[in-house]
Amino acid sequence: MADATHILRTSPVIPVVTIDDPRHAVPVARALADGGVRIIELTLRTESALESLKLIAEEVPDILLGAGTVLTPGQADAVVSAGAQFLVSPGVTPALLGHMLTLDVPVLPGVATVGEVMAVLERGLHAMKFFPAGPAGGPKYLAAIGAPIPQVQFCPTGGISLASAPDYLKLPNVSCVGGSWLTPSDAIENGDWQRITELAQQAAALAVSP
Ligand code: 3PG
Repeated sequence: MADATHILRTSPVIPVVTIDDPRHAVPVARALADGGVRIIELTLRTESALESLKLIAEEVPDILLGAGTVLTPGQADAVVSAGAQFLVSPGVTPALLGHMLTLDVPVLPGVATVGEVMAVLERGLHAMKFFPAGPAGGPKYLAAIGAPIPQVQFCPTGGISLASAPDYLKLPNVSCVGGSWLTPSDAIENGDWQRITELAQQAAALAVSP
């Protein structure tokens, strides 16, 4: 089942997490889960990201583990082997999307234009990441897309905060938002897992349109 609509309904916020030191991976995932956020998008922006993915997959089974910043078919293969349960890409190319659809995990492709939404829809997917949400047009842009294409659910990501999340979450075509604000780099470096749990609790309490 490649469609990720059910993934978007896991939590009001999908934390977009970047980890430098794999020793931080499990405590960060546990801190999020303790705060009620049982999903994580771990980015492939660090050299050790695959190691962090494997550790979370092995040691925090109660969190839904996604891999983000998937840019190539090879990366998609590697993260699925490492235990990723869903894939997120910042944008789509025919080659990357085609390959991701051959893998046995849900796929959340990034889109930023109406043409890209239509291209992904043609491949049978009804859940997409809207990226970069703020610079690409914000809630007004998404509301406008929802008029001609109401059948797509979005996870807007990029430039969203706890304060701006409700502007997106009230839209009927938004099931959740993504953001890195739940896992600030200083909290990770200082081992301040309690702060991450508190940020997760705030995020988990956000209201989502029915
Ligand atoms: C992403 O990859 O989705 C973004 O980098 C997250 O955006 P943010 O840091 O503005 O939340």
